[in-house]
Amino acid sequence: MSATSKPWGGRFEHSVDAFTEQFGASLPVDKRMAEQDIRGSIAHARMLAAQDIIPVVDAEAIVEGLSQVHREIADGSFCFDIADEDIHMAVERRLIDIVGSVGGKLHTARSRNDQVALDARLYAKDAALRLAEAVNALRSTLIARAQEHLGVVMPGYTHLQKAQPVLFSHHMLAYSWMLSRDMMRVRHAFDAADVLPLGSAALAGTTFPLDRQAVADALGFSAVSANSMDSVSDRDFLLDITYACAVAQVHLSRLCEELILWSTEEFGFITVDDAWSTGSSIMPQKKNPDFAELVRGKTGRVVGDLTSLLVTFKGLPLAYNKDMQEDKEPAFDAIGTLADSLRAVEGMVSTMRVNVDAMRVGAAGGFMAATDLADYLAAHGMPFREAHGVVGKLVLACEREGRTLQQLTLEELKAASPVFGEDALTSVDLDAIVARRVTAGGTGHERVAEQLTQAREALETDAAWLVERLAE
Ligand code: ARG
Repeated sequence: MSATSKPWGGRFEHSVDAFTEQFGASLPVDKRMAEQDIRGSIAHARMLAAQDIIPVVDAEAIVEGLSQVHREIADGSFCFDIADEDIHMAVERRLIDIVGSVGGKLHTARSRNDQVALDARLYAKDAALRLAEAVNALRSTLIARAQEHLGVVMPGYTHLQKAQPVLFSHHMLAYSWMLSRDMMRVRHAFDAADVLPLGSAALAGTTFPLDRQAVADALGFSAVSANSMDSVSDRDFLLDITYACAVAQVHLSRLCEELILWSTEEFGFITVDDAWSTGSSIMPQKKNPDFAELVRGKTGRVVGDLTSLLVTFKGLPLAYNKDMQEDKEPAFDAIGTLADSLRAVEGMVSTMRVNVDAMRVGAAGGFMAATDLADYLAAHGMPFREAHGVVGKLVLACEREGRTLQQLTLEELKAASPVFGEDALTSVDLDAIVARRVTAGGTGHERVAEQLTQAREALETDAAWLVERLAE
């Protein structure tokens, strides 16, 4: 296409360079916003007619034409041509093909600057709902696995060294809370996108008597932007959703790291289902947790997406700058990667076999009763620092002799400190250690049962929010 035949070609004398046509195009990326673009254009055309800016028959022809473009894109017959530069021009070009020059009235009182901001906001809102659904599905699975294995004891770690025994359910629920915070960020990203920029035109507003509120109502926006310059150059909502994706992806990466460790022969706490594992091309015995590794690996790109967006906007003067065209690729990538990763992790967690016995064996090692022995002494009046020293010596002795704390006799305990009484031996029992952690949020059985209820309630609240938005 020569420059003079471009929609903006009026003031140009020479054709555009073939390479710059490719270089400047965003169509390969922004064609994913076709549905949003058409939805926005239909609302705009109807409002133009309602405000007597264009005749009703023209608006009807435009809406008709746009519906056909939508069908062509949906059934794959639409011909995407890089010469169109972006999805906005591609849709408009085809509209004019279909309905004739009346299609040219659609862009009255509109700029691609407010149009692209609108499309991206509609896309971000849709994406936030899709992500919310996937986040909730994984939360629900984590809660179900926690419920299924109530009472199963496993080692809890700090520094990846055995620390204190915990309930497997407690460990699963920890991730459900991370995801509930992810949901909070996704909800915020939805709200951040929920403001109509259309009507800002290029940067200063327009001379036509638009009814922006009517467009906001038609498209389901809660508010109309207050400053036209801000609204054509604001991409905070993309930063918000990409940040939400980056944090959630980091959470998934941490969970996947544990699934990878737990499925090693050394840990053996879980067995990843065959459907979520792959073999080796040379080693016949291998079963690798590839998909957990991939989720962990993809975290790098999502974090990169966030960095890329932040840096793109650093130093941009008001209002629209072409740099901003670089906003969609990272945002779309972060959203798509997180959506796929959530699905993969949900699949792995829901199908993994939990090896209850291996967890219990693991929990018996590592002198994990040490804190409880020290607590025993402290509860009987010994300053905790002193108690820490007494038990430290017992651990050292056991380690030298290859024994566990549970194998110590009452006499040996009493020899270490006369404060130890008959009941000291029961304080080292694994289940008793767990049961004793009754502080709110602790791993004690009743606390975990309460936590399950809280986690379910939090999930229900977020599910209700989602149902409400999906119904809009
Ligand atoms: N493809 C452009 C983008 O994604 C649309 C807006 C173009 N506006 C302009 N004045 N060139 O940012």
